[in-house]
Amino acid sequence: MQKMKVLGSSRLFGEVQASGAKNAVLPILAATLLTSEAVVLHNVPQLTDVLLMQKLLISLGVTVKQTGSHSLFIQAKSLNTTSILSDDAQLMRGSVLTLGPLTARFGLAKLVLPGGCSIGARPIDQHIKALNALGANVEIDENHVQAKANRLLGTHIKTDMVTVTGTANIIMAAVLAEGLTVIENAACEPEIVDLVNLLKLMGANIRGEGTSCIEIIGVNALHGTEYTVMADRIEAGSFLCAAVATQGDVLVSGIQPTILANVTRKLHKMGCSIDFGNDWVRAKIQKRPLAVNIITEPHPGFPTDMQSQFMVLNAIAEGASCITETIFENRFMHVPELVKMGAQISVNGQNAHIQGVPNLYGAEVKATDLRASAALIIAALAAKGDSIINNIAYLDRGYESMETKLNQLGAKILRI
Ligand code: EPZ
Repeated sequence: MQKMKVLGSSRLFGEVQASGAKNAVLPILAATLLTSEAVVLHNVPQLTDVLLMQKLLISLGVTVKQTGSHSLFIQAKSLNTTSILSDDAQLMRGSVLTLGPLTARFGLAKLVLPGGCSIGARPIDQHIKALNALGANVEIDENHVQAKANRLLGTHIKTDMVTVTGTANIIMAAVLAEGLTVIENAACEPEIVDLVNLLKLMGANIRGEGTSCIEIIGVNALHGTEYTVMADRIEAGSFLCAAVATQGDVLVSGIQPTILANVTRKLHKMGCSIDFGNDWVRAKIQKRPLAVNIITEPHPGFPTDMQSQFMVLNAIAEGASCITETIFENRFMHVPELVKMGAQISVNGQNAHIQGVPNLYGAEVKATDLRASAALIIAALAAKGDSIINNIAYLDRGYESMETKLNQLGAKILRI
């Protein structure tokens, strides 16, 4: 297993460019299945999850060509199968995003059930409920899901909870369905808006994206297009947290400040000074942050994907705080690792109670999920003494060249 050595007490200064958003490009890659014409994508981040998604598309018979370091040419002219049975699909939950488009365009999809992961069981019952409502015949056995449909019929769907990939799947199924589909309780995440922006360029008829009620009128076919993926707000937020944890001054460019508002608002409450332009955000602080309470919620609430990074800030903040994780049932696995570094955190169900301490201390820790791996790096940068972080492969799933970018800001990180 790859590991990283991080030298402590590194203050970060300078500018870093945000990469394309993982949670936008995964549904966007799936959406290329909805047309027989070519789709050209730019600002595609180089992440293992994205490479896996490309592999899954190629396994279906889709043409995928790298036309630049962050650009792809994709054409699902005709497929040689509509089944994704490789174990790869279990490794990466984003594979569930192929279910909607394959059923919508080809009337048939078979997928190995995406596994849960460390942060939760992550069932796909809402995806299945919606496909059934759209007229598909969905069967599940112990490890596969199969959907069949002549033509999907638009309908009114209200999901039981806000689900991001669930909303994406329903939209991608509905764009080729007969008639009107209304999604109530839809996810409002910016990544959903980015997917809809692409689908509209492909000829889809959608409105309400970014709100909890999205309306889609099905069309007979979609055409090709060219699109630039939005920047990754979670990567950007992670860099801003690294700046605050190390009492530095970092500007993240290539990101729209508005989609980070729920994060920068919290940083400001922690005593950090925030500045921004139309495509950059800057955070700086010269003292310990102030503790703030956090409750994770669907967008526009505080993002669960920023929870572990803010736990590090609260761990070294002045004062006590409580972080409530409402989205996933097991997203506090970074707590014992932070406690090894001297953090004072106790978990009680959904709540983590944190007593800020002046310093963390370098230790050997292990990453437990994608965002926790970034949080441990942030903690190690702020800590006194050096740290070793194990299972660092998690990091490469969602962060492109993280250590290179951090080292450019003054960090001293070595991959061993
Ligand atoms: C997306 O996961 C993101 N992944 C996650 O990012 C993110 O944490 C999550 O949304 C919440 O914002 C991608 O977009 C690829 P959900 P998703 O469906 O869609 C329950 C990262 O680090 N649920 O919104 O899988 C589910 O168990 C990753 O980049 C059902 O019960 O999350 C969870 O408790 C981690 N049944 C809650 O809803 C369903 O059918 C929200 O899940 C679907 C979801």
